[in-house]
Amino acid sequence: MEEKRVAVVTEAGGNGLGKSFANILIKYDYEVVLAASKGSFEKLTKEENNLSQYNLFEVDFKSRESLTALKKHVLETYGKLDLLINNAEVVNGFGQKIDQINIDEVRELYEVNLFAVIQLIQLLKPLLEKSDDPSIINITSALGDINKMRDEGFCYSGYGLPAYATSKAALNMYTHLQCREFKPSKIAIHTFDPIAMKNCTHNSVFICDGIKDEFVSLIKKEKSRVE
Ligand SMILES: NC(=O)c1ccc[n+]([C@@H]2O[C@H](COP(=O)([O-])OP(=O)(O)OC[C@H]3O[C@@H](n4cnc5c(N)ncnc54)[C@H](OP(=O)(O)O)[C@@H]3O)[C@@H](O)[C@H]2O)c1
Repeated sequence: MEEKRVAVVTEAGGNGLGKSFANILIKYDYEVVLAASKGSFEKLTKEENNLSQYNLFEVDFKSRESLTALKKHVLETYGKLDLLINNAEVVNGFGQKIDQINIDEVRELYEVNLFAVIQLIQLLKPLLEKSDDPSIINITSALGDINKMRDEGFCYSGYGLPAYATSKAALNMYTHLQCREFKPSKIAIHTFDPIAMKNCTHNSVFICDGIKDEFVSLIKKEKSRVE
């Protein structure tokens, strides 16, 4: 029997996109470690059917110790990792002008949206290298796409989320640079926008069919280097 592919998906609460990704992965025969915050972990462990579906693990993405514990858990349970989906996020400071920005809130957001992503990739790289076809998907947002945000016709161009939007723009650039670095290796790395607000018609809580197809092609893709 073929060995199952193993995925780590970060976040298990909020709007539920982490669980949506996990459910798609389970359908495609992945073992899924769902890295949940303390609150989501406690909530989901009470819901019995979640226990058999996912391998739930409690993580605080702001803590290096906690990220290291996640690595240890994956290593001891599976000995390898095939797919890492960096999906957890913090959003704050909606509409804040420069005089209103709280720099501690900006730091907190960057801890989760960017620094935890870099740390997790550092920590999990040796486990990804044990896979035949490893990949990383960094979940991004159109709000971090400077060309879209410059286009006044784009419905969210007026959104003032400075910390969030800049963290996603930084994530996009980081992913691009990491893609270059990984090119000679077998690790593929991509960004993926789960909502793809091209025409502003998508509901932000669901992954619509077209987007789901894109996601499926990404998780099935073999040794691709496309971002
Ligand atoms: N929703 C949209 O409209 C939209 C659009 C474009 C892109 N995206 C992207 O899609 C991804 C998921 O979005 P979403 O809307 O589902 O997110 P969300 O509802 O805001 O949920 C964020 C999740 O991250 C977890 N989290 C935050 N800080 C944490 C920490 N320190 N430790 C552990 N967990 C932590 C939260 O934990 P709790 O469970 O405790 O709340 C929550 O489950 C994000 O990367 C986002 O940028 C979303």
